Amino acid sequence: MANYYDRIADTYDATREYPTAVVGAVVDFVLSDRDRKRTTLIDVGAGTGLLSIPFARAVRRVVAVDVSQQMLEVLDRKANAEGLTNIDTKIGAAQGLPVPAATFDVAITSHVLHLTDRQKSLCEIKRVLRNDGAHVDCRCNWPEHRRKIESIWLASRGSAQVAQSMAVDSRPPDLRIPWRLEETVGDRLAAYESRAHGSCWGLGDEAFANAFAKFKYAVLEEYGSESQPLASESHFEVFVTPRSRI
Ligand SMILES: C[S@@+](CC[C@H](N)C(=O)[O-])C[C@H]1O[C@@H](n2cnc3c(N)ncnc32)[C@H](O)[C@@H]1O
Repeated sequence: MANYYDRIADTYDATREYPTAVVGAVVDFVLSDRDRKRTTLIDVGAGTGLLSIPFARAVRRVVAVDVSQQMLEVLDRKANAEGLTNIDTKIGAAQGLPVPAATFDVAITSHVLHLTDRQKSLCEIKRVLRNDGAHVDCRCNWPEHRRKIESIWLASRGSAQVAQSMAVDSRPPDLRIPWRLEETVGDRLAAYESRAHGSCWGLGDEAFANAFAKFKYAVLEEYGSESQPLASESHFEVFVTPRSRI
C-alpha cells in the first residue's frame, strides 16, 4: 500500500494537532520518574513530531523514526524553526527500527501500532529499550461529532466499513486526559477533501471526487453551513508498559 502520509504531510497538523496543555500533561506524566537531562527517547511513527518536538524540549535526545520522508521533513522544519538540536529523524519501519539495541529510556508510539505488524513492532521496541526503559503508547479517541461526520462519509462512499480502531490495549489507560475539541464544519470538510483520514484512502481520484461531492452535500444538509461550530469531548489516553512486561 502506498504510504498516504506522504500525501497528507503538509495538512496533517491542521487536522490532528493536540492542545498544548494536553501534550504538556503527557510529557510531565511520562517523565515524572526520570532524570530529564539524561533521558533518551525514540518516537516510532513520529509523523510530523506532534509528540517528538514537545518531548525534545524536555529530554536529552530524541530520535524520530517514520516510514514517510515527507512527514519527517515537516518535523525537521518545525524543529529547525525552534532551534532544537537534540532531535534526529530517521527513515525506518517500526518492524525494523534503524537504531542499535538498548539505546533508549522511553519509546513512544502514538496512533501508529495499528498500521504495523504489532508483534514485530513491540519486539523491536523491546530491543531498543534499556533494561529500565518503558514503552508509552498514546491514542486520542475521536469525539462524538467526528464519529458522526465519519459515518456520513462512510455512507457517501458506499461503505459499511467502520473507522479502524486504534485500540491496542484492553486495560484501562495509565493517564486519561479529557479535552474539548472545537472546530467548524468547514474544517472537517477540508480534512476529508485532503484525504486526511484512513477511510478516504483506497479510492481512485474519480470515485473519491464523487463520494466527496455527496458527502459535502449531506454534511451541509445536516449542519447548515461551513462556518457552523462543532465541539465535543475527547480523551487523550496513555498506556505505559515497562520493558520487562513487553
Ligand atoms: C496517524 S500518524 C501518527 C503520527 C504521530 N505519531 C502522531 O501522533 O501525530 C501515523 C504515522 O505512522 C507512520 N507509519 C505508518 N506505518 C509505519 C511503520 N510501519 N513504521 C513506522 N511508521 C509508520 C506514518 O507515515 C505516519 O507518519
